[in-house]
This record gives sequence, structure tokens and C-alpha cells, in this order.
Amino acid sequence: EIAALIEQQRDISDWPAYLFAVEDNLHKAGLLLNAPIEKGAAIQAALDRGLEATLAELDRSGLRGRGGAGFKTAAKWRFCAEESAERHYVVCNADEGEPGTFKDRVLLNMHADQVFEGMTLAAAIIGAKQGFLYLRGEYLHLYDKLQAVLEQRRATGLLGDNILGRGLEFDIEICLGAGAYICGEESALIESLEGKPGIPRNRPPYPVTSGYLNQPTIVNNVETFLAAAKIAVLGGDWFAGFGTEKSAGSKILSICGDCARPGIYEYPFGIAIEQILHDCGATDVLGVQIGGPSGTFISNQEFKRQLAFEDLATGGSFIVFNNSRNVLDIAQNFTHFFAHESCGFCTPCRVGTSLLKKQLDKIIDGHGSAGDVAELESLCQLVKNYSHCGLGQTAANPILTTLQRYPDLYQNRLKNISYEPGFDLDGALE
Ligand code: NAI
Ligand code: SF4
Repeated sequence: EIAALIEQQRDISDWPAYLFAVEDNLHKAGLLLNAPIEKGAAIQAALDRGLEATLAELDRSGLRGRGGAGFKTAAKWRFCAEESAERHYVVCNADEGEPGTFKDRVLLNMHADQVFEGMTLAAAIIGAKQGFLYLRGEYLHLYDKLQAVLEQRRATGLLGDNILGRGLEFDIEICLGAGAYICGEESALIESLEGKPGIPRNRPPYPVTSGYLNQPTIVNNVETFLAAAKIAVLGGDWFAGFGTEKSAGSKILSICGDCARPGIYEYPFGIAIEQILHDCGATDVLGVQIGGPSGTFISNQEFKRQLAFEDLATGGSFIVFNNSRNVLDIAQNFTHFFAHESCGFCTPCRVGTSLLKKQLDKIIDGHGSAGDVAELESLCQLVKNYSHCGLGQTAANPILTTLQRYPDLYQNRLKNISYEPGFDLDGALE
């Protein structure tokens, strides 16, 4: 049965462009998005194979975290399983706040069962009895639907005290975020789950050691759980058969901006940016923001580069800009975003992101003078190097990545003050 499923998945003639034009209009299918596995199939397969062997299968698959950072999933689950503690927890990070990212919303809308299946699989492996889906506050419209899926899973023995009659105990609670971008950072998310303000903790210790209520906890992205469920059924070799050596499998992208066909796409890792742009109908492209504001802005000279952890990594955000856009406006918009979303806990980020915003505004508004761009750059380094968490450490990326590629754009905005021989400075001041 499993071999037939694998064949069915491989037999997709037009790989690599697996395209959903919009979420309700599926017209091609992909590795994770196509042919959902039967309800309960992943748990069944894992219990039949054995939990240790299933973890080895996950390891063989090469699956890495789909939230953006790419930490090896099997390693994370193993670290957590090996921690002796009273309780272990599973958390699904559905606080999808990266501007330009909406793939988790679609996955939860269309494949919630598989995501919950992946969470249950993780629970079996690490020995957790309780899981949480931390849902972005703005995705409130999904809440009732997701609760109904959970209810149905309880009713059919896929959650509860005795899952599939195999003595496994696990249940999932949905918790809503309240709109703070920082709560997508895993330790801030855990603080929020505990009912506290979402302020990032010091890491290490990582959540696998000390997470929810200081107990060992795994936090994974929606797409990671979905992939893990499929791997449990179809095997590690099946998954590792796609993508590159260091980035196995596929990546689901949220593509938006200046293109004819925005939507959710799935590609094997290693796909060239130019192929993606072709598929989504982007023409006259200035550049692409990959990985959201904290990611990288690549110019149209770099479209042969590949989507992969070893080249361009992304949690899913892929924003296209055509030549009618201005690079400085893009950097300004993202810089304002970070200044707004800084949680305010540490000074380098709280003050630094505001200073970045002011300094950049000054230059863009034409009030900057010689030395202001260099000052902007050194401020970027300060915020990057001394901030407490990932938000501050990446808040300067929109400026740094555009400054590196388009230094003249910044310089050309400076006030054109030049000393002309014979100019009477004293007279001018009078
Ligand atoms: P990270 O590299 O610090 O950690 C990644 C994961 O690996 C975490 O779960 C962490 O607990 C675990 N980990 C790392 N080292 C470990 C160790 N030695 N032992 C055990 N576990 C370990 O990355 P971080 O700061 O958690 O996430 C940053 C990423 O999130 C960036 O790539 C960024 O693009 C992405 N991001 C995604 C958003 C979205 O909406 N999907 C929003 C904002 C950022
Ligand atoms: Fe908060 Fe920014 Fe400091 Fe992170 S870096 S803790 S978001 S102030």
C-alpha cells in the first residue's frame, strides 16, 4: 500500500512547479500538498514500525525545520525525548507573522488533520501527553474549523486516553496569540502560552531542555509537522529523494507581490529563483525579498541562485518587486515594521530599531549629509550584534542587504553640499 502511495507521489509529470494559484483553486499538486495521507496512518505506521525506528526514519529523511532556521527535526525530537522530566510538551508554532507569509494559514485550512497527526507522532516519540497549537490571533477565523477537526479526531480515537487502542495518551489545545509578531519567536511563544507577556527568554537552555513550564518541549512549524506525518507513512528515503543533499524534500512558499499568479507553491529544494519567477508570472523584476523582512533582498543579477538552506533559506515568504518599486522604500517599510514590533525588552533593539528608522528616514527624505550612510551602517551592526533575540539580530537586514547591493541609491539621497572656492561661508550664514 505504501509502495503504491510512493509511486503515486513520484508520478507527477510536471515537477518542479507545483502550483496553487490561490488557496481555493488547486490545479497542480506537490510532495506535501498532494494526496493527503489517511487519518491515523502516520500514528499507525509509527507504532507498527516502532518509535525508535520511526525517529531513525525521520533522521534518514533529512527533514529540517520549516519555520526558516532549518534545525534538524530528528535531532530536536531526540534531544527532547532524552530529557528525563515529569512531563514533555509538543507545540505547533502557527503564529505565522512574517510579512508575506501565509502558507501555514493555507495548510491549516486544507490539511489540519495531517498537522495534528504530525503533532501526535511527535508526542509518541518524545513521550508528551499534551500539545498546543499556538494560532496567530489574526487567524481567528480558523479557530472553529480547527476545533471541529480536533473533536472529530477525539471521536475517532486519534486523540485522547487510548489512541488507536494502543495505549497512547495525547490531546491538543488551541491557544490564540494576540497580535504580537515577537510571539512567533519560540521562547516568547512559550512565555505567552504560560499567560505571560511575550518576551524572549535566554537561549540556551533551548525549549527541548526547558520549555513550557520549564519542562522539555519541542516547538515546530506547521509545515514541519505535516512533513513528519508524511515521512512516517512514506519513509525517509522517499522524502530524501527530493531536494538537495543538505536540504532534503520540498519547501512550501507563499508568493506575493508583483506577479500575475500569487499563491501557495511547493518546490523541491534547490529550485532556481528564476524558475519560480517564471512560474508565478513575474516580469520586469527588480528583486525578490526572500525569507521576509528578516531575510535577504536579492537583485535581478542573482536569479540563478537556489532556494535551499545552503543558499537562500526562507520560512516561506517570497515577495516579488518589479522595476516600478524603489529599493529604499522597501527597506524603509521593513525597518518601520521592526521598530514597531520590537518588544522593548532590551535596549539595543528597543532604542536601536527606532534610531535605525530615524536615520533611514532622514536619508530617504534627503536630509542626510556626508557620513550619515556610514553612521547608518554602524548602527545596523550595533543592533545586529547586541540585541537579545532574533528579531533585533535581524532587524537591520533590510538595510544591510540593500546597502550592500545598491550603495549608490543611498549616497544619491544625501544632500549635495560641496565647497566651492570663493564661497563666503560667513556671508552665507549671515
Ligand atoms: P535558531 O536557529 O536559534 O533555532 C532553530 C530551532 O532549533 C529552535 O527550535 C531551537 O530551539 C532549536 N535549536 C537550536 N539550537 C539548538 C540546540 N543546540 N539544541 C537544541 N535545540 C536547538 O532559530 P530561531 O531564532 O528559533 O528562528 C529564527 C528563524 O525564524 C529565522 O530563520 C527566521 O527567518 C524565522 N522566522 C519565521 C517566521 C515565520 O512566520 N515563519 C517569523 C519570523 C522569523
Ligand atoms: Fe525584544 Fe528586540 Fe530585545 Fe528581542 S531583540 S528581546 S524583540 S527588544
